[in-house]
Amino acid sequence: MDYLQIKRVNSLNGNIKISGAKNASLPLIAMTILANNSVHIKNLPHVADINTLLKLLSNLGAQCDFHDDRVVVDTSTLTQTKATYDIVKTMRASILVLGPILARFGHCEVSLPGGCAIGQRPVDLHLKALEQMGAKINIEAGYIQATAPDGLKGCDINFDKITVTGTANIVMAAALASGSTTLSNAAREPEVVQLCEILNASGVKIDGIGTAVLTIHGTNGKLIDIEEFSVIPDRIEAGTYLCAGAISRCELTLTNVEPKHLGAVLAKLEEMGSTFTTTKESITIHPSEVIKPVKIVTQEYPAFPTDMQAQFLALATQANGTSIIEERLFENRFMHVSELQRMGADISLNGNVATINGGTQLSGTDVMATDLRASSALVLAGLVANGTTDVHRIYHLDRGYDALEKKLEAVGANVKRLKE
Ligand code: EPZ
Repeated sequence: MDYLQIKRVNSLNGNIKISGAKNASLPLIAMTILANNSVHIKNLPHVADINTLLKLLSNLGAQCDFHDDRVVVDTSTLTQTKATYDIVKTMRASILVLGPILARFGHCEVSLPGGCAIGQRPVDLHLKALEQMGAKINIEAGYIQATAPDGLKGCDINFDKITVTGTANIVMAAALASGSTTLSNAAREPEVVQLCEILNASGVKIDGIGTAVLTIHGTNGKLIDIEEFSVIPDRIEAGTYLCAGAISRCELTLTNVEPKHLGAVLAKLEEMGSTFTTTKESITIHPSEVIKPVKIVTQEYPAFPTDMQAQFLALATQANGTSIIEERLFENRFMHVSELQRMGADISLNGNVATINGGTQLSGTDVMATDLRASSALVLAGLVANGTTDVHRIYHLDRGYDALEKKLEAVGANVKRLKE
């Protein structure tokens, strides 16, 4: 198993090119199930989760040709409609094939995704909405069995809670349904917006894109033709490297990034003392020598993203004062705290609220990655810790960061991928 060995840096400097967004790529790849034609997708990140979903589609019979950052997906040969446990257990987002397969074939089986390190993460809202669209849902032997022999029917759905993949799943199901579906309390994340824009450009009329109320006018079972497109940049990867600049107090420039997707993140970094120069596709961070403490509450987009919580918690360990971070989306997303405490950070937890007394000099040691974003927080801490930090179980990191150590090394970091 690989691990990352990180030594404190004296200075980082240069440009980092941001990859395509993992959390946009996953629903966009699942969307190809609705297509009549072979779909060409560009700017895909090289991360494990993308390979997992392409493997799932291949197992179902699709042709997936992934080269460099492009894939051509042909689902005309897709005949299987069962997403098995062996794949789903490795990636909960496999649930994203449920809506499109059910809409296209009238039946689908998906292994019920279990919980994960950050929380229970049920999919009840996905299932409830599909039932409202006329599907019969049965949970049997750990599998969701969904049938809709007469096709799905458009209706009014109001999510009890905002769910990102839930919104994507229902938008894709509604795309081939008969009639229109109005989805209220829908997610507004940029990743959902791109899915809606591509579907809208492919003949599925969608009103309210980017708002909390989406109306999807179904094609009544007619498959769609999807033109070639590029995946949006990864705002969470970008936010992570901005935190690398802030914590190491070094100027960095990110390219192939969409600044408007990072509003809440830039605002919090400004509160902590950094300033920025942005252009249409780049952001340069000008960090301050003194990092100020901050108060953060994680919420749905456009508020502060939960996927940036761990990175800011690591940054707050270097602030000149006390920061408060409240995690409102996932009930168990502070696993990185005990690892940062092992590096000497002064953090206390009270339920879903972390209090970080900053200004402590961190010391390098062996630390364990527990989930994707927690692992990136440990890397950030390693950049400023005395001595050597070895981050283990980086398969978590590889799920969502494209060549992180190479990108950091290219701007002067001392990060090496080694074998245990
Ligand atoms: C997406 O997960 C992202 N994953 C997550 O990123 C991200 O943390 C999350 O949205 C929130 O922004 C992908 O896009 C692949 P949710 P998702 O459904 O869709 C509850 C990363 O680091 N809920 O919006 O699974 C749920 O338990 C990952 O890249 C229900 O109760 O998250 C949570 O508390 C981690 N019932 C809240 O809603 C449901 O049916 C939000 O979850 C669905 C969700």
